[in-house]
Amino acid sequence: MPTNEEEIKHVSFTEKSGNPKQVHAKITKALPTIKNILEQHRLNSIGFGENNENKTISWEDFPNEVDPSGGELNPDRSKRKRQQIENMVSRILPLLRTGDKIVEFCAGGGHLGIVVAYLRPDCQVVLLDNKEESMNRACSRIKSLGLKNVTFYLTNLEYYNGSFDIGTTLHACGTATDLVLKKCINDR
Ligand SMILES: C[S@@+](CC[C@H](N)C(=O)[O-])C[C@H]1O[C@@H](n2cnc3c(N)ncnc32)[C@H](O)[C@@H]1O
Repeated sequence: MPTNEEEIKHVSFTEKSGNPKQVHAKITKALPTIKNILEQHRLNSIGFGENNENKTISWEDFPNEVDPSGGELNPDRSKRKRQQIENMVSRILPLLRTGDKIVEFCAGGGHLGIVVAYLRPDCQVVLLDNKEESMNRACSRIKSLGLKNVTFYLTNLEYYNGSFDIGTTLHACGTATDLVLKKCINDR
């Protein structure tokens, strides 16, 4: 985890508001710097900024509740979310061993964690978010799927002090990304 203020700014590289095109350009420009910082701290940055060509998910074969569209996203968002999840899942699955505990920090409606839980019933998935509405949505999807390997925490991620084997997050807001990185490093 970077400790230097300037480095941390590079990791929390974007303001919450602003023109999406400008924000995207800033992020793209910052990617090599972020990659370097992660590497300096021995964090693997496999696939950083790459498109996932090895699609690991056949959405058509999944029940509707596993798919992000089951989480009430509009079709465009749902398509992008599918691609993001494919990228993340293709990196997470090869790391998993039976019995592992995966925590999805800032899980929102649980789009990523639900796919992992569905594909790996032999692993435990923790979904954590501080927004009740999102956790309720995730919870009802899990219930309809009948998954038994998911636990929920409605809390700020800073308060989570359980152990885990793999920590992940997708689109954590602002400094939450840094906090997740810190949690993962401290748990190594
Ligand atoms: C942009 S949403 C992403 C949700 C989900 N990961 C996805 O990709 O659809 C960011 C989520 O992070 C949660 N969040 C932000 N800061 C948090 C914190 N400190 N602790 C727990 N959750 C947090 C918000 O409630 C929100 O649900």
